[in-house]
Amino acid sequence: MLDRIDHVGIACRDLDATIAFYESVFDLRVFSREVVQEQGVREAMLAVSQAPGGASWIQLLEPLHADTPVGKFLARRGEGIHHIGYGVSDIAGELARIAGQGVRLIDARPRHGSMGASVAFLHPADLGGVLTELVQVPRA
Ligand code: CO
Repeated sequence: MLDRIDHVGIACRDLDATIAFYESVFDLRVFSREVVQEQGVREAMLAVSQAPGGASWIQLLEPLHADTPVGKFLARRGEGIHHIGYGVSDIAGELARIAGQGVRLIDARPRHGSMGASVAFLHPADLGGVLTELVQVPRA
């Protein structure tokens, strides 16, 4: 089952400018920055909540090249919400359960995500157009 909203992924063209915007408008702070070559993005995680049940984040995503999933998203839809990430405690079990509901998996097996998490994406075409990510955070 889904535990919580872990993060909202937002596609942007200029990561530094977008970070500055979120810092000034919402008074959020960058907790982590990474370049994820495998996904073709440069990203920043801004902490919204550090609640004991699990933190929640805004994930800002800038494509490394036009020919990446986020680069193609920007060309097609422009800047804006790219995906929703839900926290789960058993990502492999959730993938099997959700696949059993007829939802196609982009990632049949979890892969490495931000800040040491295991993540997997589900196909937006089977979820009302919403690209959806499952996130299992490493145990503290
Ligand atoms: Co994400």
